[in-house]
Amino acid sequence: PEPVVYEAEDATITNGVVESNHVGFTGRGFVNYDNVVGSAVEWTVNATTAGPATVELRYANGTTANRAMDVSVNGTVVSPGLAFAGTGAWTTWQTRTITVNLVAGSNKIKAVATTANGGPNVDKLATS
Ligand code: GCU
Repeated sequence: PEPVVYEAEDATITNGVVESNHVGFTGRGFVNYDNVVGSAVEWTVNATTAGPATVELRYANGTTANRAMDVSVNGTVVSPGLAFAGTGAWTTWQTRTITVNLVAGSNKIKAVATTANGGPNVDKLATS
């Protein structure tokens, strides 16, 4: 299916701020996760049918440290400690893709930082 884009700046943010000072994002900006364990972004994602879906997260990490996050779907961690390695610069955006099972209708997809550095800067999530 055609990708459906969900901007991070439109999602539910826990311990993070919307910023736009590093070019290359889509929409109005990106989420700068606070540099703490547990900072998070939660998207509400629609699925027309139940079953596997491709979830692509677009991010930048201008450091050399992995900013790992736990990714959960509807409250269950499905991708623990997913790596978000350095991208070389805060203006260099890359994608990380996982396959998850969604229910038909509304789903909650949450990416929670697991290290004291917090998450990377996250631009958007896309499902397909
Ligand atoms: C810098 C950068 C931010 C980033 C932060 C971090 O301050 O400008 O965009 O989020 O580092 O280390 O998390």
